[in-house]
Amino acid sequence: MSQLAIYGGPETINDGDVKPWPPIDKTDEKLVLDALYSPTQARGPHNLAFEKEFREYNGNEYALFTNSGTAALHMCLVGCGVGAGDHVLVTSYTWSSSATCILHHNAIPIFVDIDFDTFLIDPDKIGAAITPRTKAIIVVQLHGLCADMDKINAIARKHNLYVIEDACQAHGAMYKGRKAGTMGDCAAFSLNQNKCLSSGEGGIFVTDNEKIYQGASKLWSFGETARPEQSRDYHAYALGWMYRNNEITAAFARAQLAKYPQYFKILRANGEYLLENLNGIKGLIQPYEPEECIHNWYNYNLRLDFDALGISDDKARFRDAVCAAIRAEGVKCSVWQRFILPEMTVFQAKNAYGGGFPWSIPGADEGVDYTPELYPNALRYSRCHMSIVQTLRAPNGLDIAAKVAEAIRKVFDNINEIDPDKILK
Ligand SMILES: Cc1ncc(COP(=O)(O)O)c(C=O)c1O
Repeated sequence: MSQLAIYGGPETINDGDVKPWPPIDKTDEKLVLDALYSPTQARGPHNLAFEKEFREYNGNEYALFTNSGTAALHMCLVGCGVGAGDHVLVTSYTWSSSATCILHHNAIPIFVDIDFDTFLIDPDKIGAAITPRTKAIIVVQLHGLCADMDKINAIARKHNLYVIEDACQAHGAMYKGRKAGTMGDCAAFSLNQNKCLSSGEGGIFVTDNEKIYQGASKLWSFGETARPEQSRDYHAYALGWMYRNNEITAAFARAQLAKYPQYFKILRANGEYLLENLNGIKGLIQPYEPEECIHNWYNYNLRLDFDALGISDDKARFRDAVCAAIRAEGVKCSVWQRFILPEMTVFQAKNAYGGGFPWSIPGADEGVDYTPELYPNALRYSRCHMSIVQTLRAPNGLDIAAKVAEAIRKVFDNINEIDPDKILK
């Protein structure tokens, strides 16, 4: 048995074997240079073309290119008419801005526990979280896997709630033949560097609903109503931010989108390879892809089965040591989120904008409880998981996926050697 790289043994994947993300070629160069030398650096043809191309790719009626996924999420809330003191349901285990976007509009996040198998919002726990103030549900299609949208949409219809998809990680992911970002009232995607579709930074807001689009577009650009192709009257018709993006980034996004179907095939093949080839490892819980879903494998998640491994103390620390050992083998592996959202200080302190806002809005805090133990599956998940990021993206194909599998097997074959005191300084 070969010695673990973390203890000085040979690495499974050598420096330089894994190609960087995202792949850049002549398509990117041509479009970005075109934007660079264009007389229009903002509100120009590349923004409009990217919006059109993304609408066609994803099947949405309206799209606005933004400077982040968080901006697009905020636009979703405004488009749906969420107001100060309203309650918005969101999963307890996600990226912070899936919920801080709610605070940006002075509304109150109400957390819902996850289903441990899928790591997504548990539809069976949504009903108990609904209050008379609830206006919307933010469904996070986390790690590129879609939640049970039929069940969630039925609950939303029954209680007259908007459904907002946080599809920031879910480009191309599907549920029952429908794409992420087409199953709720509106959705947000991120295009930051870590995403399967990247323009360095950026985001996109999408909807099929004209009224939601009109509301969101005011927030997007100073409260104005003119589209980029129209002349502006510089009048703030509503509260606005500056959430637009620039031409060079739009050109880069166009180039990457043109190549995305090819990237997607590689993601799928690499994900399937690991699903097949990591089975049967003692102490490892594989990701679960429900039959009706197509995962985009944004993150390939590994979970430790502490019972099978006989670990009862300081489980998260043991996980950190395993993660470090996999990383030392040359696999970009990390803990994606070690805190669940209710644990985060901004929610514990209930003080976003000072003066206790928005929780200090009369009546708004009624029934709001951020005790972390109310979300046991999210807590369990955050302590036992680790994610393989970027390594399984294009142009890295099955040869790299095979090495990733080999590295993980090597670490689990030597699992008795994992000593957090030696590995974690
Ligand atoms: C689930 C989720 N929501 C929202 C965001 C925010 O996207 P951005 O970083 O583009 O603002 C991210 C990005 O990391 C995310 O992963």
